[in-house]
Amino acid sequence: KGCKLVGCGSAVPHLQISNDDLAKIVDTNDEWISARTGIRNRRILTGNESMTGLAVEAAQKALEMAQVKPDDVDLILLCTSTPEDLFGGAPQIQKALGCKGNPLAFDITAACSGFVLGLVSASCYIRGGGFKNVLVIGADSLSRYVDWTDRGTCILFGDGAGAVLVQACDSEEDGLFGFDFHSDGDGNRHLNAGIKESTTNDALGTNGSALGFPPNHSSFSCIKMNGTEVFRFAVSVVPQTIEASLAKAGLNRSDIDWLLLHQANQRIIDGVATRLEVPKDRVISNLAKYGNTSAASIPLALDEAVRSGKVKQGQTIATAGFGAGLTWGSAILRW
Ligand code: ACO
Repeated sequence: KGCKLVGCGSAVPHLQISNDDLAKIVDTNDEWISARTGIRNRRILTGNESMTGLAVEAAQKALEMAQVKPDDVDLILLCTSTPEDLFGGAPQIQKALGCKGNPLAFDITAACSGFVLGLVSASCYIRGGGFKNVLVIGADSLSRYVDWTDRGTCILFGDGAGAVLVQACDSEEDGLFGFDFHSDGDGNRHLNAGIKESTTNDALGTNGSALGFPPNHSSFSCIKMNGTEVFRFAVSVVPQTIEASLAKAGLNRSDIDWLLLHQANQRIIDGVATRLEVPKDRVISNLAKYGNTSAASIPLALDEAVRSGKVKQGQTIATAGFGAGLTWGSAILRW
């Protein structure tokens, strides 16, 4: 049995924040940000916008391109680290799309590796579970967890959503092959947004305190990152994971038509491309417009590349995600 990508879509918030805008709130400048990261703008959720709304819009566009009705979707995977409900956001997307068959819908949390893990999961559900139409959505709103006084992190992130429809097909049409995935919890110290027990819940008064109860209300702290360590990690593991996926797919570096990495830093993208000997004009990047949109970055860049005609049917894409966890992984796709 095979599975292939048959549609894609994306959505971003309206508010655009430039490097010059950020220079008004932290001690930074356009020259430093552009040279060190390649980022010039990012989009940030405001007003009535929601991450769920962006995810729904991206999913609708992917369904439209695939010419698949919401009722025919039998699995929705929402790859996000910033759900708008503690219990997960995927069922709300199922509701908003109007999928009447009550398809299975759940969240996958693997930070900036989330979308690639979602693709791999879709492939497993199709090949092993008989699922036919799987929506894989990458959506994040890290702007809600950024410390806007920390110039080392606030310049990097933006919000957005992207989606693909992965569909069951005959094995000769297979378009999703060669996966490789890893995690290293030890690296969590370099990149995290841990739980924070902030306000005391004293609703039960002294009777509660006597029992040492109830626990405090919790929230999450802002993103803390050792950029240098994360940078070093990314440029070392990403070429390795792509080589591993290529080997599993029985392909070579020269078979890569497009290199599409998680959009975190242009220097990481360039470094990996150099190591894999992929020429610059075969590298997809939209980092300058959107910054690091976490799980959304790969499907957002894929959608733009497909709709602009850059990526053509039958071409081979090597994709890789990396980020908090630490997690990293890759997949080889045929569009
Ligand atoms: N503007 C101006 N100066 C700055 C800024 C800024 N925004 N940020 C830091 N600096 C200064 C530092 O204070 C330092 O000054 P000093 O030399 O006087 O001490 C100098 O610039 C160099 O700082 P570094 O941190 O060494 O800069 P570096 O070249 O490493 O770039 C960056 C920092 C862009 C964060 C880079 O390390 C990076 O991209 N790391 C990877 C991040 C990443 O990919 N994360 C992905 C995962 S995200 C996820 O999973 C949620």
